[in-house]
Amino acid sequence: MSKFHSLTVKHIKPLTPNSVAITLTIPKDLIQTFDFLPGQYVTIKKEIKGKELRRAYSICSSPKSDCFTIGVKKVDRGGFSDYAHTKLAVGDVLEVMPPEGRFTFNSSGKAKNIAAFAAGSGITPIMSIAKAVLASDPKSKFVLVYGNKSYKDTMFYTDLVKLELNHPDRFFTYFITSQTQEDDSLFGRIDASTVNYALKNKHKNTEFDAYYLCGPEAMINLVSDKLQENDIPKEKIHFELFTTTEILDEMPVDAEGQTQLKVIVDEEEFSFQMDKKERVLDAVLKENIDAPYSCQGGVCSSCIARVKEGKAEMVKNQILTDGEIEDGFILTCQALPLTPTLIVDYDDV
Ligand code: FES
Repeated sequence: MSKFHSLTVKHIKPLTPNSVAITLTIPKDLIQTFDFLPGQYVTIKKEIKGKELRRAYSICSSPKSDCFTIGVKKVDRGGFSDYAHTKLAVGDVLEVMPPEGRFTFNSSGKAKNIAAFAAGSGITPIMSIAKAVLASDPKSKFVLVYGNKSYKDTMFYTDLVKLELNHPDRFFTYFITSQTQEDDSLFGRIDASTVNYALKNKHKNTEFDAYYLCGPEAMINLVSDKLQENDIPKEKIHFELFTTTEILDEMPVDAEGQTQLKVIVDEEEFSFQMDKKERVLDAVLKENIDAPYSCQGGVCSSCIARVKEGKAEMVKNQILTDGEIEDGFILTCQALPLTPTLIVDYDDV
């Protein structure tokens, strides 16, 4: 299930002082396995200082090719991102899981008008989506509002300017910078007035089919609330969290006792006792079971499984819909067992 494949680094291109675009070659026999929808991400596994790290990175290139590109921004005390900036070289081999994720654009072949709001490295999946929208129909339009500290920190700045030059009537970018006043950019952060400026002023006569939001949680919540205030139905708003204030914000757990957990992965069954204070994925990994996961922060959806018996409660969930939760789906990295026995099936998703 969580099968990793060895892919070779074809190209590394600096985007900003703190970010790089890494292109990986897809071997011929894996072309289908690595087929992806614009907006999806891959998980990379790397052992650093004796510890296995898994990190999810969105694909920024267009589908249908023998390679794909991810954007990697260096984060403070970053494990893989630091390695990618200082040690990774062309020809190195990385262990990569096939693309996944639900923040996708699926072209129906009809002209679509799409608006996107991105901040920082949240631009990565939006790049892939924007290219797909423009390629889907010559009448499709894409409006992007993109926030950064300065142009120097703006990932894909040149690519975005080129897209605008190549599609002057169909691709519109509104850069917004918070630390330096730049030519042709708005000053400040993405806020309610920026949403109104782009959608109700500059593009007031355009009816948008969908809205894609990617970046920190506060920006996503703000834009999503503003869109809904403007009567945009929730179903048209898609979002992907790139950082979350809650990842390290542990919920106090006062549950006592143990749960007998049965896990089904790749048609194999494993049974063991786990502490009720512990999250299901943590317990599964302690037993060296090869369950799928990536962010371990409730952000990516790699660790989805279905509860077959018993009950579990998620500490945090911004991915699964109410209907999916009713159907028994859980993010195992966020799930605490509530019952004396629990059966969790990773295969039935
Ligand atoms: S591992 Fe990413 S949501 Fe659970």
